[in-house]
Parts: sequence; C-alpha cells; structure tokens
Amino acid sequence: MNWEAFLAPYVQVVEELKVKLKGMRAQFEFESRHSPIEFITGRVKPVPSILEKLHRKETDLPRVEDEIQDIAGVRVVCQFVDDIYTIIDMLRSRNDFSIIEEKDYISSKKDSGYRSYHMIIRYPVETIHGEKMVMAEIQIRTLAMNFWATNEHSLNYKYDGQIPAEIKARLQGAAEAAFKLDEEMAKIKDEVQEAQRIFHKNKSSR
Ligand code: GTP
Ligand code: MG
Repeated sequence: MNWEAFLAPYVQVVEELKVKLKGMRAQFEFESRHSPIEFITGRVKPVPSILEKLHRKETDLPRVEDEIQDIAGVRVVCQFVDDIYTIIDMLRSRNDFSIIEEKDYISSKKDSGYRSYHMIIRYPVETIHGEKMVMAEIQIRTLAMNFWATNEHSLNYKYDGQIPAEIKARLQGAAEAAFKLDEEMAKIKDEVQEAQRIFHKNKSSR
C-alpha cells in the first residue's frame, strides 16, 4: 500500500475545508458580525490509527475508503451552542459537497459524556486523474465541549481506552458542568457579544 498516494486526496480535502471555513469566519469579521466560528482545526488520520480502526471494525484494507469516514477530519469550534446550529445551517446550504450523515451528540450525548455535532460529507476532490469523491468528518462543538473532549481524549490515551471507573464518573460530572457553563453563557450571550463588539471597535480605531 502506497499510503502517501492514498492519503494525498484526504490531505487536499482537509486543506480545502480549512480554507473554506476560515473564509466564512473572515466574512463575518468584515461585516462586523459575531463569528459563529472561534477556530478551526483539521487533521488526516495517522496510518497506525487507520489500521487500528480497520481492525476494530473487523474489516480490511480494500474497504478502507467506505468503512473509515474520518480519515479526513475538520473541527469547527464555536463560542456558543447557538453558533453550532448556525454553522450546521450554513453547511447544509452549501453546494460544494453533500452531507451523507449527521450525528447529534448534543441532544443525545454519549455515555462517556461526549457532546458534539458530527457531519459526514462526500467531497469531490480534483486530482490529476479526474474527480475523486472522498468522505470527511466535520465535528462542530463549543469551546467548553472541546475542552472536555480534549481532556477525555488524553485520559483515554493514557489508560489505553480503559479509564478507571472513578475517573470516568468524574468525567461524566465534568461533562455536565461544561454543558451547564454553555447554558449559562447562552443566557448572557447578548451581553458578551456587545462587549466583544465594543472591544473590536476600540481595537480597530487605534
Ligand atoms: P469511531 O468512534 O471513530 O470509531 O467512529 P464511529 O463511527 O463510532 O463515530 P462516532 O461518531 O462515535 O465518533 C467519531 C469521532 O468522534 C471520534 O473519532 C472522536 O473524534 C469523537 N468522539 C466520539 N466519542 C467520543 C468520546 O467519548 N470522547 C471523545 N473525546 N471523543 C469522542
Ligand atoms: Mg465511536
């Protein structure tokens, strides 16, 4: 398997999606509107993780393109829960890719406590051999959800997926606290945004 050649279209998709999403962010700024996007990250799944996931799904290499939907992954991180739905609407109305699946782990969180909104898309990449359709996963979450997921991910790594029960329970509690924070911030959203607009104005007039 020539991994570099195989992964090239996925690298391309991640780069293109990052450019496009950052473009959306910039447009909100030009119009002096609150940007629903705080930041964007993207990555191509490392080869060992692809192999490990194939193994976990009890499938093999020839099925890799269909079975693993997150070889290309981008993450959109928002300030407020509302912003997530703004992003979802904007992504649904785009014509440069199609959405094949949506998973709402916000209204139904995972047992771990994980919250996020996922979209699996089919994205056409231009290659020197013509158009190639590849799947990509877009994760949309708040800063608080991201904070939680990042920490939980580290612990999963540390404990090789077997987080001790006591820590698991703490994580579930922390997930609720993070969600509570999102809810509280939603209540003072207008206040926060007005403060940010004033700050932005003062900054640009200097
Ligand atoms: P995998 O979980 O990746 O095997 O695929 P899946 O088809 O079950 O998709 P799912 O939507 O469950 O998860 C996709 C991605 O969401 C994962 O690769 C993680 O990035 C993220 N994710 C899902 N569950 C959790 C979780 O409990 N904790 C953290 N930190 N991330 C999660
Ligand atoms: Mg999973």
